Amino acid sequence: MADLRTTYMGVPLANPIVVGSCSLSKSIDSIKRLEQAGAGGLVVKSLFEEQIQLEEEEFRTRLGELEPGFAEAVSMFPKMEYGGPKQHLYWVEQARKAVKMPIFASLNCVSRVTWGDYAKQLEGTGVKGLELNFYSPAIDPEIAASDIERREISILEGVRAAVKIPIAVKLHPHYTSLINVVSRMETAGANAFVLFNRLLQPDIDVDSLTRHSSVSLSAPGESLLPLRWIALLHNRVQADLIATTGIWTGRDVAKMVLVGAKAVQVVSVLYREQAGHIQKMLGELAGWMDEHKFANLDAFRGKLGQKQGIDAWSFARGQYIKALVGVD
Ligand SMILES: Cc1cc2nc3c(=O)[nH]c(=O)nc-3n(C[C@H](O)[C@H](O)[C@H](O)COP(=O)(O)O)c2cc1C
Repeated sequence: MADLRTTYMGVPLANPIVVGSCSLSKSIDSIKRLEQAGAGGLVVKSLFEEQIQLEEEEFRTRLGELEPGFAEAVSMFPKMEYGGPKQHLYWVEQARKAVKMPIFASLNCVSRVTWGDYAKQLEGTGVKGLELNFYSPAIDPEIAASDIERREISILEGVRAAVKIPIAVKLHPHYTSLINVVSRMETAGANAFVLFNRLLQPDIDVDSLTRHSSVSLSAPGESLLPLRWIALLHNRVQADLIATTGIWTGRDVAKMVLVGAKAVQVVSVLYREQAGHIQKMLGELAGWMDEHKFANLDAFRGKLGQKQGIDAWSFARGQYIKALVGVD
């Protein structure tokens, strides 16, 4: 039987299938089911910047309402401590205590540069690592891409200075020069990159003439985007590369390891097929490895990723030219 063990930012995992950040981690029963189904680890639902803003806003409003009775306002502190982010911290700790598999926390950071405090408190819950998700569409014409990248790197540096646990950055696919950003983020202290965050888009209901947002699940073909970029990043960074989006089968996991991934994250397939699907994926992966006589993941990791620029062409332009012009 193939050995499926791997590491994730230095944290040992029984196998490379990690449950990505999503609402399946909002119930302890569901987290236990995912562990029983064989998950190698789990990233808890993110703490969103808006949750913190909401809490601060609520606090300001309530403070305003109570003036001039400031003493009374101060006495409200203990009660308010259990709202929003505090509740989240409590939840992450409960999740961590409920299972043996490694648990990772996630922060959805947009603009504030003071994430260090929250990162430190999350570290205090005993999680094995932290995932930072920076995505927010750029809608200010005065702000250049380089300004946004600098802000993200400065948030990362702040978090790095605040915690000792490893940090992963969950990337979106819209950077103009992804390899440049990744290498600067690695210098700033990122231990892993998760490729790619899947961006949910708002929609329009033409019957009611309203905007609405719904959660659409990924489809298997979507894994080709992270596959290409993991292949291109392989051998260019020391940090671990973790694949996410469109991974539905054990063969999809094998593909990602072949281009250099240390592990994968799955979400949509678990919504569609339930937790037990992890077991099936692990069986498919192990069966494929036995068939190809790979005793462990290191035996084929990166075999088809780019090597010192030699194969980069095929992942960058070659396959595109071949498909459209029919030339190698
Ligand atoms: C219902 C739902 C909730 C999600 N919540 C989060 C979240 O809180 N933080 C985050 O970084 N990603 C979140 N995601 C994105 C997933 O972690 C994952 O990156 C994305 O769904 C792509 O993986 P998949 O193709 O396996 O679904 C969510 C996805 C879904 C479907």
